[in-house]
Order: sequence, then C-alpha cells, then structure tokens
Amino acid sequence: MRLVLLGPPGAGKGTQAELIKEHFSIPHISTGDMLREARKNQTELGRKAEKYMEAGQLVPDSVVIGIVKERLSAPDCNKGFLLDGFPRTVKQAVALEESGVVLDGVINIQVPRQLLIERLSGRRICRQCGKAWHVEFNPPPEGICDCGGELYQRSDDSSETVSQRLDVYLEQTSPLVQWYEEKGLLQAIDGNQSIDEVFAAILAALEARR
Ligand code: AP5
Ligand code: MG
Repeated sequence: MRLVLLGPPGAGKGTQAELIKEHFSIPHISTGDMLREARKNQTELGRKAEKYMEAGQLVPDSVVIGIVKERLSAPDCNKGFLLDGFPRTVKQAVALEESGVVLDGVINIQVPRQLLIERLSGRRICRQCGKAWHVEFNPPPEGICDCGGELYQRSDDSSETVSQRLDVYLEQTSPLVQWYEEKGLLQAIDGNQSIDEVFAAILAALEARR
C-alpha cells in the first residue's frame, strides 16, 4: 500500500496517519515531523528549514525531495508507506513520480478554513510520543498525554503563522488536487466528521479502489 495524505494544515493528516499506519502496518513518513526533529537536533537540515517553518513558508523543494528519497530507500518502505505532507508542490509530485514510485491512492482530507483555524489553535502535541490532542475536540486526559508525556503548542500554530500556512497551501499545494485527480488517484474525504468517522471513510474509499 503506497499512499499519500493530502489536505490543508489542520485537516487531520497526522491524526489519521496514526490509524492508517497501524491498520496497514506501513511506515508513516511525515516531512513536517522529520523537519521538526532535525530542528530539535540542530542539524544542518534543521537549521536550513527553521526560518521557512517559522514563517509558515515551504522549505525549498530540493531540500525536501532529498530527504524523502533517502527515507523511501530504507528497507521498511519495501512493502509500502504512507506519506503525510509530501508532496506539497507539483515539483515534489513530479520528483516522486520520476523516482519510480507508483501510488495506490491519494487521500484528500477536506475541512472548511474556519474549522482548520480552530483545530490548529487548540492543538497540543505530546513531547514524548508526538500524538496530537485538541483542547476542545480531543481533550487529553488530565491535561497530559495518555503516555504520560507533557504537552506543548507547535510554534507555527500561532494565529498569524496559521493564516500564512493556509494561504501557502492554497497557492502551492492545492493544485495537486487536480493533478492527482487527472491521474485517477484522488479520493476526496469529508474531514468535518469525528476522527473515527473520517478513518472509516478513508478505509471505505481505499477498499472501493481494490
Ligand atoms: P506539517 O507538519 O506537515 O504541517 P501541516 O501540513 O501544516 O499540517 P499539520 O501537521 O498542521 O496538520 P494535520 O493535517 O497533520 O492535522 P492534525 O492531525 O495534527 O508541516 C509543517 C511545516 O514543515 C510546513 O509549514 C513547512 O514549512 C514544512 N514542510 C513540511 N513538509 C513539507 C514539504 N513537503 N515541502 C516543503 N515544506 C514542508 O490535526 C490538527 C488538530 O485537529 C489536532 O489538534 C487534532 O487533535 C484535531 N483533529 C484532527 N482530526 C479531527 C477531527 N476529525 N475532529 C476534530 N478534531 C480533529
Ligand atoms: Mg501533521
């Protein structure tokens, strides 16, 4: 199963990825998570990516394409993978195609803009396991993660950066919707439902493709 999760910031890509990876036993490859890890460790990649991420801009294609190609060449990707947040530009999609990857489906999670803003402003992430909670929609038990980890707010979830990220999505990533639709790969999913309902809709859409 080779899948791409497409959708604007806050659509629920990371939340659904956790469920999909368990269901299909495939690695979850999130470029956002990889870049945040590199920032945390202050590697050369992390230092390069920092200013773009803080500004709500995309990290240059050449940088991201390089790290994804390297990740996909690891043995655990032989039987499939789930890409979350990549590709994000047509150039990245072309690079993925040219590297010989044949996708089984592209899941496009759709959520209205106002709700995306609410989801991102209330999101809290576990410092220990990375799970995303929401202060209102998916509140953490007793204010900490169920793994016991402390929660924090992502620095790019400030209101100004969120609106920049949503604009960048519209300009640079949303053209991929039509791009994948023309290739017959796109599965549109209504993301304005409960987490479990969205997951069920994704499984049904993938089942219908088989
Ligand atoms: P990235 O980390 O990919 O962020 P994003 O695309 O902006 O998406 P998010 O992670 O914010 O949202 P999500 O869809 O995963 O939602 P989540 O499940 O957490 O990228 C960050 C940055 O890295 C980019 O801005 C860019 O700078 C750089 N970058 C990354 N990839 C790149 C690339 N390919 N090229 C260039 N640059 C790149 O859910 C959000 C909240 O909603 C949570 O609180 C959750 O609990 C809640 N929630 C989820 N589902 C539901 C539901 N069904 N009902 C109610 N609440 C829900
Ligand atoms: Mg995410």
